[in-house]
Amino acid sequence: MSQTRSRTVVVLAAGPGKRMNSTTPKTLHELLGRTMLGHVLAATGQVDAERTLVVVGVGAEQVSSHLAEIAPDATPVVQAEQRGTGHALRTALAAVPEASGTVLVLHGDTPLLHPETVRALVDTHETEGAAATLLAAVVDNPFGLGRVVRHRDGTLERIVEERDATAEQRAIREINAGVYAFDATLLRDALGKLNTDNGQGEEYLSDVPAALIGTGYEVRVHVTPQPTEALGCNDRAELAHLRRLLRERINTEWMRSGVTILDPATTWIDVTATVGRDAIIDQNTQLRGATAVGEGATVGPDVSLIDTVVEAGASVVRAHAVGSHIGPRAQVGPYASLRPASRLAAGAKVGTFVETKNAELGEGAKVGHQAYVGDATIGANANIGAGTIFVNYDGVAKHHTDVGEAAFVGCDTSLVAPVTVGDGAYVAAGSAITRDVPPGSLAVTRSPQRTIDGWVARRRPGTKAAKAAEAAEAAEAAETAPPTGSDTGDDAQEGPHR
Ligand code: UD1
Ligand code: MG
Repeated sequence: MSQTRSRTVVVLAAGPGKRMNSTTPKTLHELLGRTMLGHVLAATGQVDAERTLVVVGVGAEQVSSHLAEIAPDATPVVQAEQRGTGHALRTALAAVPEASGTVLVLHGDTPLLHPETVRALVDTHETEGAAATLLAAVVDNPFGLGRVVRHRDGTLERIVEERDATAEQRAIREINAGVYAFDATLLRDALGKLNTDNGQGEEYLSDVPAALIGTGYEVRVHVTPQPTEALGCNDRAELAHLRRLLRERINTEWMRSGVTILDPATTWIDVTATVGRDAIIDQNTQLRGATAVGEGATVGPDVSLIDTVVEAGASVVRAHAVGSHIGPRAQVGPYASLRPASRLAAGAKVGTFVETKNAELGEGAKVGHQAYVGDATIGANANIGAGTIFVNYDGVAKHHTDVGEAAFVGCDTSLVAPVTVGDGAYVAAGSAITRDVPPGSLAVTRSPQRTIDGWVARRRPGTKAAKAAEAAEAAEAAETAPPTGSDTGDDAQEGPHR
């Protein structure tokens, strides 16, 4: 029977989220790679629904365009005035008069729900043939939430909201999670009869179970064994709390799958990121978006990777990378910044205080120290010396630089793009290269050195420099003088033959 029922999912996300104190609609606030709304929709992933509706209101345009991005099959339904959760659901159902069977309702601000729990709720609801089944949880701090009031025999009496509860009811720690499965026909009927006689003057969806019970129907309560999944988010302190809980959940899953996480408390892995077996994640590390860390790679400490692939055996230390690809056994950092489209082939190295952008490093190519590599292709085994700048911008447009295979670029060089350094070519330290360097040749652009003897003694007499120079001259004079008879063999190593 359960397989043949039509299912409609409705997510309520029209509320103002006043307590967030934000210009961003509440359900668009983010935790570990998804918005709250995104997490809630993901939690309905195992339900096999015929249609999904999302009730939007405050920030409707923003929420709808986000929805088009993350769940194009879901339909936004506008609730122009926020007259309560019951009114929100009534508005949604009015848009789909054909919907029958089961209606699954979730709130857009409960991002920790497990897809398994949601599916189990729908399954038991349908197999038991209940009029409604709601998800409840026993939590430590029920403040602000609807309480589950039961009869002595344990059956449900009603849900009472914080504002409308007696002191005795407020002591109840079993709360309404805001996830319900309803029989569509009975639900439509009950929603049509809701009143607004309550502390907020709103139509409460949480009044529907008692209404159904009052007309003789059975309402079941499904209590989750993992109460934190039912937690809602009404302000940013709660959001931070939920984010920490989600972080723990995600880290525990990765550790169970064979990842070493040295400091789970400071490791933040988005739900969208992946980590291979035997990877080691050191402290203060964030793996965000579509980041994928390969087997046996080492990442951290102090690393943020955004939409970045790190292949097997690579090492990334104290670095920030966006939209980049770090090949097998490549090394990055400490203190490196990889901007979008940086691609390191196997065994390549981007070292300390190096910034790259739209740059391809061939196998084994090395940029070890203090360099900027923008808009470049660097051949396999090329070596880029310390302080090299790829001068890619002429004030108007960006240009490309090619460095050939096994080329050697000396320290403190400017490669002024567009320019090519051929395979196996050398560039002398301190050069400013503006013309192509043919394969196998050496390019030098610096002016020859001029040395003016005795300049310091003449132009800076009496300075520390002059004194040091004088002492050096005296020592040299002593060394070149013939040995005196008083020399013993003991300090022979200090003698003139040194
Ligand atoms: C609600 C429940 C409470 C439950 C708690 C679980 C009611 C009256 N109370 O309280 O029993 O314990 O959720 O988290 O149902 N919304 C609309 N349109 C509206 C009003 C709200 O779409 O007119 C949406 C909100 O955007 C939100 C959800 O419904 O996503 C819940 O609203 P919220 O104001 O957060 O209700 P709570 O006070 O948390
Ligand atoms: Mg809420």
